[in-house]
Amino acid sequence: MSSNFESSLVFAQKMDFNDSLNPFRKRFHIQDKNTIYLDGNSLGRLPEDTKTMLEELVTNQWGNDLIKSWNKNWYTKSEKLGDKIAQIIGADNGEVVVSDSTSVNLYKLAKAALSYQKGRTEIVSDVFNFPTDLYILQGIISGSNAKHKLKLAEANDEISININDLKRKITKKTALLVLSLVAFKSSFLYNAEEITSLAHQQGALVLWDLSHAAGAVPININTTKADLAVGCTYKYLNGGPGSPAFLYVRKDLQNKLFSPVQGWFGDKNPFEFDLKYKPANGIKKFLTGTPPVISQLAIEPGLNLTLEAGIENIYKKSIKLSEYFIYLYTEVLKPLGFKLGSPLDSALRGSHVSLKHPEAYRICTALIEPKNSEVKVIPDFREPDNIRFGLTPLYTTFTEVYKTIIRIEEIISNKEFEMYSNKRKGVT
Ligand SMILES: Cc1ncc(COP(=O)(O)O)c(C=O)c1O
Repeated sequence: MSSNFESSLVFAQKMDFNDSLNPFRKRFHIQDKNTIYLDGNSLGRLPEDTKTMLEELVTNQWGNDLIKSWNKNWYTKSEKLGDKIAQIIGADNGEVVVSDSTSVNLYKLAKAALSYQKGRTEIVSDVFNFPTDLYILQGIISGSNAKHKLKLAEANDEISININDLKRKITKKTALLVLSLVAFKSSFLYNAEEITSLAHQQGALVLWDLSHAAGAVPININTTKADLAVGCTYKYLNGGPGSPAFLYVRKDLQNKLFSPVQGWFGDKNPFEFDLKYKPANGIKKFLTGTPPVISQLAIEPGLNLTLEAGIENIYKKSIKLSEYFIYLYTEVLKPLGFKLGSPLDSALRGSHVSLKHPEAYRICTALIEPKNSEVKVIPDFREPDNIRFGLTPLYTTFTEVYKTIIRIEEIISNKEFEMYSNKRKGVT
């Protein structure tokens, strides 16, 4: 970590002045300059281009051109957007498509992998995985006769996974390893290449959930030799609330695996309306039904911004932002009873930082709904005591990081959090 940081507004402003990605902030809709949005790891901001694009889409493509737009623009969009995401995650053209939600894509790919891995009876994941991933795997197990067992690697603590335990759990019985590359709570980041190779040595297939990594961390999926991946587009890729997800299947596996959800969009020729399903060649066979066109097209401007900025540049700034955040936490918040809930080592961390405090929920509410402050900060809360701060290099500034830390200090020193209820809202 850089020891040249300073805890001052002037220093933070200087960092912004020298930041080559700073001009990208203007490309997003930012209405209230006093709102510091640190939840782009949950829902990314709205790109300005998305607004104009959606207006054109609704008025011209839907309004004027109606059904003709399928052939003009819509029908091949799942693959075209997939090719753009492929560039961001280091895959080849034809290895990624946009479809469904992350949960549904995980179901399709995990089930396809388990059918392929005949004779192997175990699935391995970890205790940090996002619950939907585990629920999907539990559902596959309870709904099949295969009698697979799910084994979860243990954590060392609340921050990192015990890699030795993970190694022990991956054996010749393992059909599939399913892990989130970046853990949603602590931000723990796996070494994808090392873990994939470990699983391959035992003959297991590997499926990465890239939801908290895509658009924030360079993934180089081809270099890792990963078999399968899924991920969402509404976080660091700024695709919009509930925007469709993506899935990746390595080229050489595409003719070996088959989708368990045999919808007509995954058929070789949907408009032949044949009564018998024939899987399409390549990645297209993993499509299911008609995509939500408006949400799907809204993904593109965000992808274009990420490609224009360059994932390596985004990652460099992500590290700088989180190192500055952790530096300020150490200087200002650690003495006030906060604990770091994320790895200290940048190589082991994604693009959000979690802070722990026994009053995390009320502090988080005070940040979001200030009663006596002009500064509003929007992070999010994860049980039992984590405040997550998403640092999104395309629009988060160093000044915002500085102001956030000072605002938290204020909430603690004047006991402002005591004015708030501990009763959880529906979405935290
Ligand atoms: C790692 C991970 N996987 C999956 C999901 C959610 O998937 P879905 O888009 O199906 O709701 C999330 C949501 O935050 C996530 O963090």
